[in-house]
Amino acid sequence: MFIKLPARPAAHARRSRHRYIASVCALACAVSLLAPQAYAQGKPALLGDKAAFIDDLMSQMTVDEKIGQLRLVSIGPDMPAKKLADEIAAGRVGGTFNSVTRADNRPLQDGAMRSRLKIPMFFAYDVIHGHRTTFPIGLGLASSWDLDVVATAMRTAAEEAAADGIDMTFAPMVDISRDPRWGRTSEGFGEDPYLVSRIAEVSVRALQGEQKPIAADRLMASVKHFALYGAVEGGRDYNVVNMDPQRMYNDYLPPYRAAVDAGAGAVMVALNSINGTPATSNVWLLQDLLRREWGFKGLTVSDHGAITELVNHGVARDEAEAAQLSIKAGTDMSMADQVYLSQLPGLLKSGKVAQQDLDNAVREILGAKYDMGLFQDPYVRIGQAVGDPPSVNAESRLHRAAAREVAQQSMVLLENRNATLPLKKAGAIALVGPLADSHIDMLGSWSGAGVDKQTVTLKQGLQDALGTKTELVYARGANITEDKHIVDYLNFLNWDDPEVVQDKRSPQAMIAEAVKAARSADVVVAAVGESRGMSHESSSRTQLTLPENQMALLKALKATGKPLVLVLMNGRPLDLNWARDNASAILETWYTGTEGGHAIADILFGDVNPSGKLPITFPRSVGQIPSYYNHARLGRPFTEGKPGNYTSQYFEEPNGPLYPFGYGLSYTEFSLSGVTMSQPVMKADGRVDATVTVKNTGRRAGATVVQLYIRDVAASVVRPVKELKDFRKVLLQPGEQKEVRFTIDAKALSFYNAKLEHVAEPGEFQVQVGLDSKDVKTASFTLE
Ligand code: BGC
Repeated sequence: MFIKLPARPAAHARRSRHRYIASVCALACAVSLLAPQAYAQGKPALLGDKAAFIDDLMSQMTVDEKIGQLRLVSIGPDMPAKKLADEIAAGRVGGTFNSVTRADNRPLQDGAMRSRLKIPMFFAYDVIHGHRTTFPIGLGLASSWDLDVVATAMRTAAEEAAADGIDMTFAPMVDISRDPRWGRTSEGFGEDPYLVSRIAEVSVRALQGEQKPIAADRLMASVKHFALYGAVEGGRDYNVVNMDPQRMYNDYLPPYRAAVDAGAGAVMVALNSINGTPATSNVWLLQDLLRREWGFKGLTVSDHGAITELVNHGVARDEAEAAQLSIKAGTDMSMADQVYLSQLPGLLKSGKVAQQDLDNAVREILGAKYDMGLFQDPYVRIGQAVGDPPSVNAESRLHRAAAREVAQQSMVLLENRNATLPLKKAGAIALVGPLADSHIDMLGSWSGAGVDKQTVTLKQGLQDALGTKTELVYARGANITEDKHIVDYLNFLNWDDPEVVQDKRSPQAMIAEAVKAARSADVVVAAVGESRGMSHESSSRTQLTLPENQMALLKALKATGKPLVLVLMNGRPLDLNWARDNASAILETWYTGTEGGHAIADILFGDVNPSGKLPITFPRSVGQIPSYYNHARLGRPFTEGKPGNYTSQYFEEPNGPLYPFGYGLSYTEFSLSGVTMSQPVMKADGRVDATVTVKNTGRRAGATVVQLYIRDVAASVVRPVKELKDFRKVLLQPGEQKEVRFTIDAKALSFYNAKLEHVAEPGEFQVQVGLDSKDVKTASFTLE
């Protein structure tokens, strides 16, 4: 039987899930009184030796107990708490996801302690960009180009989740996305293999910590979605991925590899197929690449229902074959489907699945539990009932200061005509737009245990910053959209408590009110964009434009002649052609999380100088997609300023992006010197330094990101026009200058060639240094 759970567990099923959690709670109180204190599974004497301990434990397990370990289940309509507790006590469950408090998880662990071998459960959850405290979404974190900022968010999330009895997170999500139509672009860290890989490493380390087994205040990371999920054809979720091996190895696989090398304990297998074979049943992916080539020694978890979906993919005739293919390929644990439970006994009997296949999977699951520290103490993160927080959502459990600081770093200033920003805290400000006072949208997608009411909206943020000195006139101005079909889609699964709530007034009436507010003010701040559900799993779009009614609002505001500041909230690059030409200023905030309103106000009023840079290209139109900066060299490249005919371009609109990768303004200005190379020639095992001087030529302190790109001038295969290889965020006082030195070694020049060998080929390399990917200073050197 397939446990049908909403496809959007975090964003759309919060309320219904909580109903089930309440019933677990009732059970908790009864059972935890009986909680056994002896954790006597396996031989405690062997606890210091992981392999010996697991071998010993496995020698005691029945086949049914082994199969039970492969199941990762969620409490839901088909698995009420009572049934789950019984299943666990019978040794038929390995772990759960979506139960997110100590009080919920304790009775489940108690159940495991009543099972014959007392093998502990683990508890997983989607802790993606925060837990109780919500930090900016992945694109926002990546916009900081600051690994310490990312680490703060991830470490805080891990601490909060661990304090709620959670042992594993389905994060980091490191899918490279070059197609903004894909709704899950919002979850990832953008389009660049280097930037995403650095973030992947730092995230894994921050989530798991350095200790082994993982400390009580950290979680195991399950990097996802392995692999290439961000490359679904046409940006349509769950679609196929077809990709040549060189592109895979050079552009899409590095972030997963970086997470594995950083020690990620688990890998979540992607839902998509890759060149005709679903990831879930992909022997090459899960064995040759992941385990043999990369040396991964941890647990693989299927995505939600993915094993059963092998039948839909058309590679399995029925559920039995689906189970056979996936366990033999190396998908250890099955999330939210029952086919391992129902099919493996028969498959083992018929010999279609060998005992060894089952044992391999069980060994990884037990190994992960060992690494989470659960054999030493199954309650390591659950603790004693007496220590449970009186209220899980208590204000005191939030990390608001960290959330505000991280959010301040995650925004990108795209335009600022006539120094419209920062705003003065004087006169009157009109605040309009469907996102100006929407708590739920501050959270962004996959907000886990974040509570909408605990977020600071922009309206609240501005009010707090202004006090009584300045008048703030608010008018909603528009709904997110007037398209009923879209509203229904976004509210699917959440009818009783819809996320997208329509103002019943006519669009004209709402605009009229907003225009009146604008006329009465000195400046207009318009919070527009997408509701969070528009940038989510299963939220692919064919357009990148703002919905029509929001555009009508903006045009009416523009007609008032008042300076128009756009505060964008969205989870993907949008088509900003009109905004770029008409807005006085544009601040890309993505979704900023719990303290978003305060952080945006900090930027708007100049208490903090924006320093974010785009981790993803903004195309001019959907037709330009894919529009990533590091595309391959061409025989007939379009060259700006040269005649265009018979060069690679679209002729109806200017070529190149609207805003390039790495771009972002500041309230101050920076200048960059030319690039000096330490020497003209580099030996194969040597290094060269590229040095620039960056100067703050403006009147405010500010930070910028100096970016190093490299272009291989001639190689054995076609290489990208440029690739990011290093970056440095530099804070400068007015008039201050700093030297930035990048050290380049063979690793930075290496790529996978036609034989998939990782090589640095001798020859000339061009070094490009800039404050974005487009406007760069160049120099060159030769690799001997
Ligand atoms: C998503 C995963 C997520 C899982 C569990 C799936 O629908 O693709 O990213 O971790 O659900 O919530």
